[in-house]
Amino acid sequence: MADVIEVEDALEEFQKGRYEDPDTGSEAKGKEDYRDYDAEARATVKEFYRLNHTYQTYDFVQRKKEQYLSLSRRKMGIWEAMEFLNNLVDDSDPDTDLTQIEHLMQTAEAIRADGHPRWFILTGLIHDLGKILCLWDEPQWAVVGDTFPVGCAYSDKVVFPEFFALNPDSQVSEYQTPRGIYEPACGLDNVHLSWGHDEYLYQVVKDHMPEESLYMIRYHSFYAAHREGAYMYLMNDRDQEMFAWVRKFNPYDLYSKTPVRPDVAALRPYYEELIAEYFPATLRW
Ligand SMILES: [Fe+2]
Ligand SMILES: [Fe+2]
Repeated sequence: MADVIEVEDALEEFQKGRYEDPDTGSEAKGKEDYRDYDAEARATVKEFYRLNHTYQTYDFVQRKKEQYLSLSRRKMGIWEAMEFLNNLVDDSDPDTDLTQIEHLMQTAEAIRADGHPRWFILTGLIHDLGKILCLWDEPQWAVVGDTFPVGCAYSDKVVFPEFFALNPDSQVSEYQTPRGIYEPACGLDNVHLSWGHDEYLYQVVKDHMPEESLYMIRYHSFYAAHREGAYMYLMNDRDQEMFAWVRKFNPYDLYSKTPVRPDVAALRPYYEELIAEYFPATLRW
């Protein structure tokens, strides 16, 4: 399979193709046939979601939570985690592709340029740090990609819904009613989403960032909900309200990537100070 960054770039281009560019207001290039998108990249994305939808079962999610959420793997500060994440190297085109730190800084800088509060800028800087799961040998389908609830019926608003037929949970009748194991409007905090970098980072930083930020971190890959409006029946009033922030964050994640490399060394003091405002010197990962 293609390397992590290649897969991620393909997923991101695919995502942009599904939706409209908020800057130009131009129509997405056709939800069904994203023409500029090359066939190879599309095949990569499709294979990615075949694996993701096949193996992300309710039991798998519980196992990953047990494995990681004791947060006893390592102690690191935020900056150290950014440098650690940078070990995810793209071997497809090292000269033109951005490093992980550069992507995080571009996201943060775009938020900063729009005059948003400091916690929002910091959210941009850290939002993908949960991808260090890849460095602990988790397969890509258990780290990145869109997330969806497990333990209840699959929405056809999730990408490639046809692959859910391959998921063993699709044979468990308890999981296949619309609300499945959940009470109506139980709140997303009580819902298990497919396992990935969003939930993991949320658990690492949850005592340190404001609630709006935590929603952005925890649900930024839950496109079926924040872009398509699915699964509203699982949300409580607080979720509905807070999802406005998740939607506000999304364009910075998706559209802030430019080929101009941010000057990481020059920006570092500013960001180190911002990090110190919210975080202790080390966190448990
Ligand atoms: Fe992400
Ligand atoms: Fe991102």
